[in-house]
Amino acid sequence: MAKLMVLTVLGLGLALFRDQRSSYQKRMNAFLEIKPVELSSCNFIKGIETGSEDLEILRNGLAFISSGLKYPGIKSFEPDKPGKLLLMNLNKEDPTALELRIIGSTFDLPSFNPHGVSTFTDEDNTVYLLVVNHPNYKTTIEVFKFQEDDKSLLHLKTIRHKLLPNVNDIVAVGPEHFYATNDHYFVNNYLRSWELYLGIAWSHVVYYSPDKVQVVAEGFDFANGINISPDGRYVYIAELLAHKIHVYEKHANWTLTPLKSLEFDTLVDNISVDPVTGDLWVGCHPNGMKIFFYDEENPPASEVLQIQDILTENPKIKVVYADNGTTLQGSTVASVYKGKLLIGTVFHKALYCKL
Ligand SMILES: *[C@@H]1O[C@H](CO)[C@@H](O)[C@H](O)[C@H]1NC(C)=O
Ligand SMILES: *[C@@H]1O[C@H](CO)[C@@H](O)[C@H](O)[C@H]1NC(C)=O
Ligand SMILES: *[C@@H]1O[C@H](CO)[C@@H](O)[C@H](O)[C@H]1NC(C)=O
Repeated sequence: MAKLMVLTVLGLGLALFRDQRSSYQKRMNAFLEIKPVELSSCNFIKGIETGSEDLEILRNGLAFISSGLKYPGIKSFEPDKPGKLLLMNLNKEDPTALELRIIGSTFDLPSFNPHGVSTFTDEDNTVYLLVVNHPNYKTTIEVFKFQEDDKSLLHLKTIRHKLLPNVNDIVAVGPEHFYATNDHYFVNNYLRSWELYLGIAWSHVVYYSPDKVQVVAEGFDFANGINISPDGRYVYIAELLAHKIHVYEKHANWTLTPLKSLEFDTLVDNISVDPVTGDLWVGCHPNGMKIFFYDEENPPASEVLQIQDILTENPKIKVVYADNGTTLQGSTVASVYKGKLLIGTVFHKALYCKL
């Protein structure tokens, strides 16, 4: 009898483990084959070899890029060097990336580990760059003022808050106001891999302003990219491991209510929004296993989706670029400027293509 019980319990355990494993493999999209989709003319950006994990393009064609992320469990080609912020002028014929000088005595450069970036331009055309930073694997939000004349960033402020424990990405709605995704899995230099495996939807979205900080959406299986519609009425959130993009309505009091969700067959990472058309451009990981377990013989693929008319009943979704990792490894973000597409990656290069 006892033996039978042990066997039953063992059997149940194994069945649960099998279910858990198959759900994990599904969340990671572990076995997807890539059908390549090429673009006509693509060049690598000179000066980007160790990641271009997030980027934002201003309406005037200046692009800000974060490079050199160190994130537990994810490959880095320069693990001992601090990260940096790069600037590109996309109006130039063959644009190159230039490192922005950071000034201000309040900022610790050696521990700089930039992650998501977002800009806010005020009425006087002052550009603020808000950067998710992980100094010593903690989370802070750094606020910089962009000084175009000498291509520098003046450090204004470091924001820390208990509701911002492990921020992945932000979208700025003011010089010190933003929505942030907490991904939950990255704490103190380790990836909570068991929790990642179990897939409890821990992750959430926080609204931050100097006078009020509040959770505005929760229950995500790894909330990742976040962005806002050009009219400021909708917030888009990428749920990486559920392969979904959620559309939320934003209210005057900054709370969000869910409107709709779109489902994909790929891990959706960063979302950028075309300021003119409102289209979403999404950097994706077709196979999540390859991004979390790097193997140079079998590198992670890259994929870019364009989503048009997201608010209508029939959004149009197009795979604009797909590569099995031979050319570009681990794309996370893509953004357009004047008929060209700039694609960033977690730890690899950046590709600039004609559409
Ligand atoms: C871009 O992708 C990285 C890699 O997963 C992610 O951690 C980061 O938050 C993303 N940034 C944006 C703007 O979504
Ligand atoms: C915020 O505004 C929305 C829409 O007007 C409303 O439904 C909600 O109750 C408000 N929330 C708070 C906390 O004031
Ligand atoms: C990736 O695709 C290229 C052709 O586009 C092919 O030569 C290569 O073998 C593929 N690599 C893998 C790992 O599938």
